[in-house]
Amino acid sequence: MTTNRYTLLQRLLHWLIALIVFGLLFAGLAFWALGYDGLKGLVGEDTTNTLFMAHKSFGILLLLLTLLRIVLRVRTPAPPYDPPLGALERLVGGGIHLLLYVLLIGLPIGGWIATAASGYPIQFFGMTLPGLVGENKELGEMLFFYHGLGGLIVAVLVLIHIAAGLKHWRLKDGIMTRISLP
Ligand code: HEM
Ligand code: HEM
Repeated sequence: MTTNRYTLLQRLLHWLIALIVFGLLFAGLAFWALGYDGLKGLVGEDTTNTLFMAHKSFGILLLLLTLLRIVLRVRTPAPPYDPPLGALERLVGGGIHLLLYVLLIGLPIGGWIATAASGYPIQFFGMTLPGLVGENKELGEMLFFYHGLGGLIVAVLVLIHIAAGLKHWRLKDGIMTRISLP
């Protein structure tokens, strides 16, 4: 068995993106469970505003990092599996990876448009980016519903993905080494 690995940059991006996704889902869970006013009552107005600002900023950063990751992935395809994976594992694993890429592009764009349509600013760290669409509360509400649903689907896919990763880690079959940092 040889160690076929993604490039160091691809591996770094995998773990950086994973960290950001966990943070976004955690903040999203708080928004969903408590809402703006509930959070404000719990942690104060300043912290709540910072959390919303951070969610939007890191969400847009995630969009940029995912686009970069996809460009790198097209230019440097995945290393071959050695020993080869079974057809079913390839199909399910590859399908989940593809879905994750699609959602990690679609969710931030949806969040961006939902935020603008609801009349809130698109904060990207110190900057305010253009809203792309005019105010339309109904559209904003509908898009936020799908934004939350998309977040839930990402959470489920990530759980399955982690379970598969842990299984391969325990099997010591070299799959974890493909993406691990050291
Ligand atoms: C939010 C968190 C995560 C996301 C969004 C994510 C996403 C992805 C994606 C899209 C790939 C496919 C890479 C490609 O072929 O282009 C991948 C590969 C991989 N991930 Fe994750 N990942 C996350 C967390 C984790 C965690 C916590 C583990 C460890 C248990 C892990 C283990 C792996 C492994 C072993 C691979 C290589 C799979 C292979 O080569 O077939 N991932 N990840
Ligand atoms: C992959 C990236 C993202 C993930 C996984 C994610 C996930 C979530 C989740 C799970 C929620 C809770 C759903 C709800 O309250 O209905 C949420 C809420 C929210 N997201 Fe995101 N999000 C992402 C990117 C973004 C971006 C880029 C923006 C804006 C530029 C954004 C703006 C918001 C706002 C304003 C809320 C609060 C909605 C409300 O108060 O109802 N999100 N996000």
